[in-house]
Amino acid sequence: MSRSTAEPHRAHRAAAAVEPKPRRSNFLREFLRTPALVGAIAPSGRALCRTMVKMVDMERVKVAVEYGPGTGPCTAEIIPALRPGTRFFAVEINPRLAAIVASKHPGLKVHVRSAADMSDICVEEGLAPESSVDAIFSCIPWASFPKALQDDVMAATLRVLKPGGVMVTFAYHVGLLTPSGRRFKRMLRANFRTIDKSRAVLNNLPTAFVYRCVK
Ligand SMILES: C[S@@+](CC[C@H](N)C(=O)[O-])C[C@H]1O[C@@H](n2cnc3c(N)ncnc32)[C@H](O)[C@@H]1O
Repeated sequence: MSRSTAEPHRAHRAAAAVEPKPRRSNFLREFLRTPALVGAIAPSGRALCRTMVKMVDMERVKVAVEYGPGTGPCTAEIIPALRPGTRFFAVEINPRLAAIVASKHPGLKVHVRSAADMSDICVEEGLAPESSVDAIFSCIPWASFPKALQDDVMAATLRVLKPGGVMVTFAYHVGLLTPSGRRFKRMLRANFRTIDKSRAVLNNLPTAFVYRCVK
């Protein structure tokens, strides 16, 4: 775990700071262990993952990162869409879920850390600590994060994204009803140059949509 971690992350991290277990687990069990961290009772459906991928111009992407791959439904859509030579790695705070997605994609580097540590992770990847990432596929539950964690992950994200870089992130309609979901929406507006929204993906549990945010 990162030495750069801010104090408010301690509880969040403590929940995840256990040794990875190679056995298969399931998403619902991980939700019941740490609901705010996992943020959904079921993995994303294919339609939602495909919507995320379609919203990124993969021709322009040299370095791509996925936040919170979980059991890997979006990873399975991102990898085939990568262009030859594009670097791709994932950041998953839950070691049991990280072990599952890594076992499905043996060539994929999964950093078992928080997305708030993105600068350090980029350095570990041999990249610059800032302005080195073209695209972030964010699957983390921003709307269930406390403000301090939202702030820290957002600051890390803005730091590593190149100018003109893109973050796509899904959000649940139900999340727009919560104070932290509304705070997240305001945070996107305050920090990105342009924000587009996909159509509603209704055949997902819960129903969702995707924000495409350009720095
Ligand atoms: C809503 S689930 C999405 C999982 C999967 N990508 C999907 O779409 O079904 C959120 C994922 O984000 C991970 N996560 C939560 N906070 C994180 C953080 N700060 N850094 C990295 N991953 C995080 C959780 O462990 C979980 O796997």
